Amino acid sequence: MLKMIEVGINGYGTIGKRVADAVAAQEDMKIVGVTKTRPDFASKMAAERYGLYIAIPDYLDKFEKSGIEVSGRIEDLLERVDIIVDSSPAGIGAKNKALYKKYGVKAIFEGGEEHELTKCSFNAQSNYEEALNRDFVRVVSCNTTGLCRTLNAIDELAKIKEVKATIIRRATDPGDSKKGPINAIEPVLKIPSHHGPDLQTVLPHIKISTMAVKVPTTIMHLHCLMVEMRDNIGVDKVIDTLENTRRVILLDGRERIISTAQIMEYARDIGRKRGDLYEIAIWKDGISIKENTLYYYQAIHQESDVVPENIDAIRSMMGEEDAEESMNKTDRNLGIR
Ligand SMILES: NC(=O)c1ccc[n+]([C@@H]2O[C@H](COP(=O)([O-])OP(=O)(O)OC[C@H]3O[C@@H](n4cnc5c(N)ncnc54)[C@H](OP(=O)(O)O)[C@@H]3O)[C@@H](O)[C@H]2O)c1
Repeated sequence: MLKMIEVGINGYGTIGKRVADAVAAQEDMKIVGVTKTRPDFASKMAAERYGLYIAIPDYLDKFEKSGIEVSGRIEDLLERVDIIVDSSPAGIGAKNKALYKKYGVKAIFEGGEEHELTKCSFNAQSNYEEALNRDFVRVVSCNTTGLCRTLNAIDELAKIKEVKATIIRRATDPGDSKKGPINAIEPVLKIPSHHGPDLQTVLPHIKISTMAVKVPTTIMHLHCLMVEMRDNIGVDKVIDTLENTRRVILLDGRERIISTAQIMEYARDIGRKRGDLYEIAIWKDGISIKENTLYYYQAIHQESDVVPENIDAIRSMMGEEDAEESMNKTDRNLGIR
């Protein structure tokens, strides 16, 4: 029998809890445990479901007082796993890297960390092979994942000359009540926003500049893209390509999917766990081409689009050479078409 890949999750928040469930759904992987810093309802669930470890050993007495069963400290977890997914808050991963090195454990970091931390930024469809057998890999952010998926497909079809994009960002996640503009729109004044340069950590040959604004919504990000193409192609070809691109779905405004609210309703209606949408949603009737420039809108479910990417990054780092085979398994187990 094949040895299961033993996985730990350091940081059981928005991303960590989803990656944990996704790992548990794979036939070749197993969750050994997850970490938290605070004893709260999520810690209680984690202890029952996966085994709970303490991310900051000094906080052990808080957990002891709470009565939540604890399986050990982060160091104990590191002794038991092949690979750790660091889904702690942005910037904390960089501090944790030395500990992973000390325990000889491979680690995946998330998009809140800098590219320089691993020098390998990952998107399964764009550069699966780059992460093969590596010890440290960064899965790019939710927005960059969305840009990689669709621009990589369009580049293969029509050779991109230049991209200009505006990223309209959700203020915070639905489970968070303490952040974000309540009644304001907040532009990122540093141009380009970090999204364009971040795309280039995965697809360095794509010329792109981005602007970004934060708006008072929690459910999705929205991208407005203008893509100048070298090849002269028709809208039908673009639609056909995007319809056949993995982890991308085309939705139709004429079926009254006119905003991110209906997209999230759609994800709930098709029975997705937590109402997640792993795919990048593009409005089919919003795609147009004028003089070699392609225009389209895409919506990003920030809480979940990076989840399948984490699963494929695990396989690549553990030596699975066949990218398609890995993505097929991941998608089948997560119910992605
Ligand atoms: N949320 C998104 O939309 C999104 C999308 C893509 C990528 N990302 C990236 O994914 C990473 C995680 O983001 P998130 O939104 O999932 O964060 P989050 O919801 O705030 O969760 C962070 C988790 O890390 C734990 N934690 C706090 N301090 C820690 C420490 N020192 N060591 C280990 N764990 C610690 C927290 O535990 P306690 O609650 O017990 O303190 C919590 O479980 C970030 O790099 C972020 O940029 C986020």
